[in-house]
Amino acid sequence: MFDAGEVTLYLPPEIPDDALWSGPPVDASAIGAALGGVRVASLDALGDALAGRRDIATLPAPDAETRSQQSTLLGRPITSAPLAGPDGALADAVIQLRLRHDDAAVAELRLAAEITALAHHAGMRATMPGIRESAVRAAMEAPLTELGCATAYGSIVTVHGEILHNESHHNLLEADDLLLADVGAETPGGWAGDVTRTWPVSGTYSSAQADVYDVVLTAQRHAIAAVRPGARYRDIHMVALRSLAAGLRDLGVLLGDPVERAHDGTAALLFPHGVGHLLGLDVHDMEDLGDRAGYAPGRDRSAEPGLKYLRLDRDLAAGMVVTIEPGIYFVPALIDDPDVRRRTAGRVDWARLDVYRRIRGIRIEDDVLVSATGADVLTAAIPKERNKIETVLARP
Ligand code: GLY
Ligand code: MN
Ligand code: MN
Repeated sequence: MFDAGEVTLYLPPEIPDDALWSGPPVDASAIGAALGGVRVASLDALGDALAGRRDIATLPAPDAETRSQQSTLLGRPITSAPLAGPDGALADAVIQLRLRHDDAAVAELRLAAEITALAHHAGMRATMPGIRESAVRAAMEAPLTELGCATAYGSIVTVHGEILHNESHHNLLEADDLLLADVGAETPGGWAGDVTRTWPVSGTYSSAQADVYDVVLTAQRHAIAAVRPGARYRDIHMVALRSLAAGLRDLGVLLGDPVERAHDGTAALLFPHGVGHLLGLDVHDMEDLGDRAGYAPGRDRSAEPGLKYLRLDRDLAAGMVVTIEPGIYFVPALIDDPDVRRRTAGRVDWARLDVYRRIRGIRIEDDVLVSATGADVLTAAIPKERNKIETVLARP
C-alpha cells in the first residue's frame, strides 16, 4: 500500500505446514530490503490499516477470488474495466509509468529478446519432416528453461498458422508444410519477448511459399520503417495493410487498386488482426486494463474489419516497445464463406488464391524499441530473410 509517501508490502502470513510443503519461510525483512527498504507487514493487518478509509484507489486483480478480497477490504465493489474515479486515476498513473521503458527495463527487454533468439535458432535446427510440432516446441522452450526463464505466453508452434492462437502441438510435420513458431521468453524479472518466424519444414521455401513470405516480409519492413516518435500506431498498421494489399495484388490474388483493397476490408480477409501491441512486463502489456492503455484518450477501437483487432492506437514515443507482426492467413472459415465471396465479388481472384491456400499462415513478428529517431529492432538477430533462415535450417 502506498499511503502519504509510505510504502508497505503486505505478505500472506506463514501457516505452520508451509515449511513442510514449500520449504523454509520467506525472509520478509530481506524482501523489504531488496525492494529498497519498504516496510513489510502481514496481510492479516491490511484490514485494520484500511478500516474507515474511503480514499484508497486500487486496480482490480485479474482473478475473481482476489477481486472479491479487494471488495471486502475496501467495502465497495471492485470490478474489472472500465475503471472510474480514483481507480481510473491510478490506472492512468500506472499506464504513464509503464508506457515508456527506462534503461533498466530496456535492458531486461533486450535480455528477453536475446534468449528468445536462442529459442528460434533451436526450433529451426530441430525441424524435420515426420516429427511432431510438440518436438519443435520442446526444442524451443529448452534454452528458455535452462536459462531460468518461463515462456511469456503459450507457445504457438504449428503447421496450421492460419489458426491465430493455435496452442495445440500434435500435428506431424510434413515436408510441404510451413511451420509458424510464435515463442517468446519471459525473463526471471518478468519481462516479455514475443517473436514469430515461419519456416519451411523441407528446409527450402517452395516458390509459392516464397511468393507469400516475401509479401509479408516487405510489409513488415515497411511498417518497421514507419516506427518513430510521434508516429500514430494505427497509421503503421495501415502501412502494413496497404503493403500486404499491394503484394497480394502483384501475386494476382487481389484485384484492382491495392489502396482500395486495403480500405474496403478485402485485404483484411487475409490479414485479419492488428499489426501489433505494447510489450513490457506482459506480452500484451496492460491489456488487463482493457483499451485504456492501448488507446490514447479520445480514440476508440473501430468496428471495421481491418481495424477491429488493433490493440494499440497511440502516438509512439521514445522508450515505448511495440511488436510489428503482419501476416497472411488463408482461413477457410473466412475465404470459403459464401457471403464473404458475394461481398468481395470482383476484388479477389479465387482461383489464384487457391494456388496459395496450402500455405495456411505466415507471420513475421519482431519486438521494436522506439528510439529517439526511429526504430531499434530488439530481435534483429533472429533471421527472417529466406536465405538466412534456409542457412540455419541446412545446418547439420
Ligand atoms: N504471441 C501473441 C501475439 O503475438 O500477440
Ligand atoms: Mn505479438
Ligand atoms: Mn507473438
